[in-house]
Amino acid sequence: MSNYHIKHLEEYYQVYRKSIREPENFWEEIAEEHFIWRKKWDKVLEWDFKKPEVKWFQGAKLNITENCIDRHLATRGDKTAILFEPNNPDEAAEHITYLQLSERVNQFANVLKDHGIKKGDRVCIYVPMIPELAIATLACARIGAIHSVVFAGFSSTALSTRINDSDCKMVITSDGSYRGAKTIDLKGIVDEALESCPGVENVLVAKRINSDIDMKQGRDKWLQPLLDAASTKCEAEVMDAEDPLFILYTSGSTGLPKGMVHTTAGYMVYTAYTFKNAFQYKENDVYWCTADIGWITGHSYIVYGPLANGATTVLFEGVPSYPDFGRFWNIIEKHKVNQFYTAPTAIRALAKQGTGLVDIYDLSSLKVLGSVGEPINEEAWHWYNDNVGKKKSPIIDTWWQTETGGIMITPIPYVTPTKPTYATLPFIGIQPVLMDENGEELKGNQVDGRLCIKFPWPSIARTIWGNHERYKETYFSAYKNMYFTGDGALRDEVGYYRITGRVDDVIIVSGHNLGTAPIEDAINEHPAVAESAIVGFPHDIKGSALYGYVTLKDFGETRVHDNLRREINQIITEHIGPIAKLDKIQFSEGLPKTRSGKIMRRILRKISCNEMDNLGDTSTLLNPEVVQSIIDNRL
Ligand code: PRX
Repeated sequence: MSNYHIKHLEEYYQVYRKSIREPENFWEEIAEEHFIWRKKWDKVLEWDFKKPEVKWFQGAKLNITENCIDRHLATRGDKTAILFEPNNPDEAAEHITYLQLSERVNQFANVLKDHGIKKGDRVCIYVPMIPELAIATLACARIGAIHSVVFAGFSSTALSTRINDSDCKMVITSDGSYRGAKTIDLKGIVDEALESCPGVENVLVAKRINSDIDMKQGRDKWLQPLLDAASTKCEAEVMDAEDPLFILYTSGSTGLPKGMVHTTAGYMVYTAYTFKNAFQYKENDVYWCTADIGWITGHSYIVYGPLANGATTVLFEGVPSYPDFGRFWNIIEKHKVNQFYTAPTAIRALAKQGTGLVDIYDLSSLKVLGSVGEPINEEAWHWYNDNVGKKKSPIIDTWWQTETGGIMITPIPYVTPTKPTYATLPFIGIQPVLMDENGEELKGNQVDGRLCIKFPWPSIARTIWGNHERYKETYFSAYKNMYFTGDGALRDEVGYYRITGRVDDVIIVSGHNLGTAPIEDAINEHPAVAESAIVGFPHDIKGSALYGYVTLKDFGETRVHDNLRREINQIITEHIGPIAKLDKIQFSEGLPKTRSGKIMRRILRKISCNEMDNLGDTSTLLNPEVVQSIIDNRL
């Protein structure tokens, strides 16, 4: 028997050692015993980080939806697969059983086929957190189309960039979305995006808010009548282990967003195995991850990981503050949630409201609390532990990335003793290393360096869509034969990891990865702007917020006023989305530059963080005098 479910610490160490000593045997056993295959693999692993190339379970044939849906029908047909909690608490929750999910996914898959979508085609899914989002995703997987889910908070420009980068033939969307007391005109955003997407042939529109929208003849169709007319049976496409399952975009420090490509078998095995263990999921538990399916957390731990384990996964349409800040706690009580997975930014925002709204709900069903997306500070950790978990539910601080596909460093609840702000130990099969700036590995404990992984795991992203060179450059060139995460970390005296934050120009705002370059590019489009530089600074709720330093074309004469700040944020909203708006905008005469003309963000970062006595050497700058004026005019 393989060690599918780890129950105590010695077992963790024993299984961990096995997974490192004999990775192929280890993963082969897991794959063999816990999944269904149309054909088994010829080779478990082939890899070369120099190329870089990673292949797991080569030669195997499968369909991930048979593992996430069909195989459960005999024993769990009537069990709730997806528990949909609408934005409006007065609207009834919807329990979608595995049988209903199967029928709805198959109907959707048939509609895709009827519209000419075939294996390997890319389909963009721009849908809010309603059941159709999960169903569309699984329908693509059913027929072997590659889904590219774009978070439905992104702007039309961000959407069209992503549609064009991967040549999507179809867009699935809705008439609009609810977000607390607001409604958002999603279809309008899609229409605007598609003005610059000539490759899109069809748009399928789910009805959610019943708004009066334009439907473009020949291109746009309402989804529901098509689904109603479609058969509830659809043969699953037989996929190769290494066929792409999806593309998901993530920000880089420069240039266009990176379309990370995840493939089928390894991703399935790893997300399922991590889900089972990191959440200690037991049959009949109700599991809730508050992320959006538009991010990797939702792909792996709302859809694929839970469903591969036959779990009940909650899908929440709304926001934590609507109708009041007690909504999360209300949902936990209402659905007797056992595992709750959220982001530090949400915890901080809720903590700010005090405990009044937590205490009135019965949270006794909770067994495991998860955190993801950014470092969780000590205060938030304790608030979560004391007031939500009542000191009885272990907190798992899970570190991972879009690129890693699944959780990489985490405590296993009831197994690994937790420590506030520490992601603790590597998950089974994961070999983290810390490197110094000269490319040497930092051995032993009590060291602080850059976090790399030295051996492939099944769900590592295989490439960047259409740009393998960039994949190599970004992740495999900083350190020889290593995957470089872009994060800094320390290892304490017992070998526990603590993630210290990004070491590149990515800033994590409210748990969302934002690259500085695309934001600067957007700002620079404003006719009055000459140049800009974005840095992060600490923020009570968002973790980090954005501070923009902007120089204007005609500094002396342009009237610097709030309108300009508003316009700059408006441009950012149009190009990227409201999540990338700047909290502070300082207009300055110049930006500190090296003699080769590179903006010294390091200095700006220190100033924005109020660390002026620690600026380092500024004498080698091309224009050291601007530093003082920037300090004098800080916001
Ligand atoms: O800096 C790390 C931070 O989020 C980055 C990955 O972001 P993304 O690809 O959007 O995926 C987020 C959800 C998996 C990482 O490089 N990060 C993620 N989880 C943690 C974290 N930082 C500290 N602690 C975490 N638990």
